[in-house]
Amino acid sequence: MLNPNLAPLGHYTFARLNEILADVIPRSNELPILFSIGEPQKSTPTLLAENVAGHNDKWNRYPPPNGDEAFRSAVVAWAHRRFNLPAGFIDPHRHIVPVPGTREPLYQIGFLCTPLKKASERPAVLMPNPFYHVYQGAAMVGGAEPVYLAAERENNFLPDLGALSEDLLARTSIFFICTPANPQGTIADIEYLKRAIELARQYDFVLALDECYCEIYRGSPPIGGLEACAALDDSLKNVVMFHSLSKRSSAPGLRSGFLCGDPRIIERYSQFVTFGGSPLPLPVLHASTALWGDDQHVAENRAYYAENFRLAEEILSPHIDFSAPPAGFFLWLNVGDGMKAARKLWEEAAIKTVPGELMAREDETGSNPGASYLRVALVYDAETTKRGLLRLVECLFGK
Ligand SMILES: Cc1ncc(COP(=O)(O)O)c(C=O)c1O
Repeated sequence: MLNPNLAPLGHYTFARLNEILADVIPRSNELPILFSIGEPQKSTPTLLAENVAGHNDKWNRYPPPNGDEAFRSAVVAWAHRRFNLPAGFIDPHRHIVPVPGTREPLYQIGFLCTPLKKASERPAVLMPNPFYHVYQGAAMVGGAEPVYLAAERENNFLPDLGALSEDLLARTSIFFICTPANPQGTIADIEYLKRAIELARQYDFVLALDECYCEIYRGSPPIGGLEACAALDDSLKNVVMFHSLSKRSSAPGLRSGFLCGDPRIIERYSQFVTFGGSPLPLPVLHASTALWGDDQHVAENRAYYAENFRLAEEILSPHIDFSAPPAGFFLWLNVGDGMKAARKLWEEAAIKTVPGELMAREDETGSNPGASYLRVALVYDAETTKRGLLRLVECLFGK
């Protein structure tokens, strides 16, 4: 009765975390601090509520699948501002489609862009290991084999492109790369992205670049896939970028983002929306247009996270080999045994974190590349973050 391909997915990260911590009773009298979930805790910009309210008369209308001119122009203008692109590089009609957050299309692309066979074999969907759990879902819903590529410190936490065999590349239908990466916060450079695009074109697969953290950075703005495409030629062939307001505008509840990419992928996704997807409701579309048009609130968000990372450096550096990642809002701490540390933190300090092994798969040698790590989401205000980090240090390092 059910699709057997999806059975191996099991429960997703947070359900597994709750199961794992179910028998641990916090002994601390302190209020729990949830450093586990990557959900921005900063309030949403007033622009959002104002624009939803300003379009309250439109809830009685079915929204168009491809958004409207104003939305497409706003995201195209943002992308040209944010990335260093030649004028007119993105075509608002062929390269853009709005999405209800990026989680859904990251999953749906699995069946939209996976043929039944590739090079006469079962297709493969490649992803880094550790990875955002949805990529695995995409592989399975597309009937493809998920292939987990080591993404460890020595390679800047990105898969080694030089290690991919001809056979694997030939049967690859989709290759997910997350930059800036969740959980490690590292950034692919332009040479890496250009090489990945060349491989996608040579072996005719979809390069899916998840860039939802690209606005949360400390130093200079992370390079994006669009810049790599522009450096190669004037096309987005075989590439699709995923952009979201969830982290950029602290608005995960809005469910709003967009895809920018190869017109063939955009068209296939738009076709899917007309048959079985959810276009953005018009008030949401208008609020999204306003948010993509404003950079001020994003600069404030960056400053909010930058202060949290400054505190993390100050509080953690004396105890653990640590440097703040250039982007994203997670710490990826090598604590030796992430599972043991997560249980201890919950029991003794009422701090919830994600043991790194829940974000990764065992490799062929049976070793899990996330096992020694803890993921700590620095999403609270500076005062709560400081309190939480001091408690974390005291619990794990006895200081
Ligand atoms: C790496 C990564 N990609 C995509 C998403 C999905 O975000 P949204 O669906 O809110 O756009 C998340 C959310 O946490 C994420 O961490």
